[in-house]
Amino acid sequence: MIKEYKHLFTPGKIGAMALKNRIVLPPMGTGFHDEGGYVSQRFIDYLEARAKGGVGLIIIEVTAPSVQCNVSNHQLTLGNDSYIPGFKKLAEVVHAYGTKIAIQLQHSSWELKDGKPLQVGPSPLVVPARVMGVMAGAPHGLTLDEIHERIQWFVSAAVRAKEAGLDGVEMHAAHQYLLASFLSPATNQRTDQYGGSVENRARILVEILKETRKLVGPDFPVWPRLNGQEFGFDGGLTLEETLQMVPMLEEAGSDALHVSAYGAYSMAIRAPICDIPGFLIPLAAEVKKISKVPVIAVGRLDTELGEEILEQGKADFISIGRRLIADPDLPNKVAAGRWNEIIPCINCMECIERPVTEGRGTACAVNAAMGRERAFRIQPVAKPKTVMVVGGGPAGMQAASVAARRGHKVALYEKSSELGGQLAIAKLPPHKEELTNLISYMADQLTRSGVTIEYNTEVTPDMILEKKPDAVIIAAGAAPLMTDMPGVKQPQVLAAQDVLAGRQVGQNVVIIGGGMVGCETGHFLSEKGKHVIVVEMIKRVANDMAPMVRRRLLDGLREKQVMMMTNTTCLEIKEKGILVKTADGKQQEIPADSVIIAVGYQKNDTLFQSIKDKVPEASNIGDSANPQRIREAILSGYQAGLSV
Ligand SMILES: Cc1cc2nc3c(=O)[nH]c(=O)nc-3n(C[C@H](O)[C@H](O)[C@H](O)COP(=O)(O)OP(=O)(O)OC[C@H]3O[C@@H](n4cnc5c(N)ncnc54)[C@H](O)[C@@H]3O)c2cc1C
Ligand SMILES: Cc1cc2nc3c(=O)[nH]c(=O)nc-3n(C[C@H](O)[C@H](O)[C@H](O)COP(=O)(O)O)c2cc1C
Repeated sequence: MIKEYKHLFTPGKIGAMALKNRIVLPPMGTGFHDEGGYVSQRFIDYLEARAKGGVGLIIIEVTAPSVQCNVSNHQLTLGNDSYIPGFKKLAEVVHAYGTKIAIQLQHSSWELKDGKPLQVGPSPLVVPARVMGVMAGAPHGLTLDEIHERIQWFVSAAVRAKEAGLDGVEMHAAHQYLLASFLSPATNQRTDQYGGSVENRARILVEILKETRKLVGPDFPVWPRLNGQEFGFDGGLTLEETLQMVPMLEEAGSDALHVSAYGAYSMAIRAPICDIPGFLIPLAAEVKKISKVPVIAVGRLDTELGEEILEQGKADFISIGRRLIADPDLPNKVAAGRWNEIIPCINCMECIERPVTEGRGTACAVNAAMGRERAFRIQPVAKPKTVMVVGGGPAGMQAASVAARRGHKVALYEKSSELGGQLAIAKLPPHKEELTNLISYMADQLTRSGVTIEYNTEVTPDMILEKKPDAVIIAAGAAPLMTDMPGVKQPQVLAAQDVLAGRQVGQNVVIIGGGMVGCETGHFLSEKGKHVIVVEMIKRVANDMAPMVRRRLLDGLREKQVMMMTNTTCLEIKEKGILVKTADGKQQEIPADSVIIAVGYQKNDTLFQSIKDKVPEASNIGDSANPQRIREAILSGYQAGLSV
């Protein structure tokens, strides 16, 4: 842990824009906007929290420069003057904290034509690797007139951004959206002045920057976001090509370069997200070597790595994305050395891959208040109550700390000797170690908020009636379903969570159930050298996982040669294996020393049912109400803590 930050909290400049520190909130789509793509109060609250938390520069998410490219009707838009007042209000709120605020202008590749979505691009090409931006068929190849019109969209929107009091504009030329697809040789095969050589492919961006500069003057910062490289497919943009573009972009008036990347079928980076902290730094560092303007680096960075990168002169500013979604106060907490209080991002991808349905935008698994900053504000209660919380998993811990922070007198009871609930085993498979930080953070919050913790105490209905609390919150979790299949009672049959918790298994293992828990248990055992077969009834394994995390897991399973039998139903567990019906309807015996059951969970709500009518106030939350995920457990805990 760095004791003294010599760089991260020092002022810096992008063009004429003075920044109080080097921490940047990169653009991240939220979907929090009002109908038509107008700035909403919810969005202002979300960004205000991040400004208050100490970030130096906020870059507002993907914003359509024209109403014509706001296809969803909910993408943030700056396509005409009616949008200016919303941004003005946002800028004023953010500025009150000494934070600067720029906006990212993005053409997604989709437009509305005659009321229908149409994808456009440099060339009418189907590029399989192009997973973002283009999802169906060949785009319409833009004509020269159409290119010039789209250049004007960007330029006019930049002028509006300045009028709205924003501090700068980032032109989104990364991640395979329209401008990136012009830069990339994989998607741009034009033969006119906008295709072919690096100079020609960069022309659209260069013209946007030049035209913008003419209209906004020298003191209004404008810069592009670029892919340092496109990974994982043939013919993508190379670092060498990006480096060739650097002087052209500087010459065109760029005040900085924000170096991201794109990956399609790459193990290390998927779309703009990489798992390995600092994986993209070599790209930023190469750009920095030749760049005359500040370089902004990104890619699973934290403040410690950020400090190191600045120290080594590999970049000038550090973008921190998901960690600032998880904890808006990260910069202030780090500056004050309040390490234990940082809400840890667990790299679960739920923010990008499991947006909340019902048009409510994105959400964070570990920070339930993200996007609900106003509604979830913690206010002291007028009349404190005694509150009994049953269960020390994420739901119970969250409920207890929120209730205690509001002033209630809270006691949490956990039947085992440790906190964390299922997280204590969920953290054991490969790539899940970040859950350890979540348990430590939540445990620390309990102590900090004054919750009394009683370990090794299994709460019974009598105990609740005896203690007579004003309110009871039950967060007793879920129990594994064991099925009633013939043979399930044999000694070689185990529940997945018992295996993760340390029960021994033989060398040849069959796992019945190929959802997240089954597959992760398979991965865990394969890493220990076991031979693993996963049997799944439906046609897709790990179907309950977010796509990027799922792909990461499947790559790991493939690497360890875990065999997946899909569309396969287990009929019976035998002494030395299992009998299945395979996809083609045939019966087959699969030999195994151990059989692991991972077919789901059932709610553990007996305690709640037995006391709910006998106490003044009772609620049942997390998996004990409905077995789901960390996100739902923490959200229901937060809500219970607020409503008690
Ligand atoms: C292997 C595995 C991997 C997982 N991976 C993920 C993942 O990657 N992402 C994700 O979002 N979700 C994951 N989950 C699911 C996630 O862990 C659960 O949804 C979450 O832990 C539910 O939280 P909870 O607080 O409701 O219940 P739990 O975490 O189950 O906690 C309940 C707690 O209550 C205690 N308790 C029960 N009865 C009593 C009683 N009478 N008195 C006192 N204490 C009691 C238990 O001991 C336990 O500590 C995973 C689950 C498993 C099993
Ligand atoms: C929910 C979400 C939305 C994103 N939206 C955008 C966006 O609007 N524009 C953009 O250039 N990148 C976007 N990104 C990529 C981020 O700006 C950033 O590059 C990426 O998250 C890596 O940084 P991190 O590892 O610190 O999160 C998004 C990422 C996430 C998680």
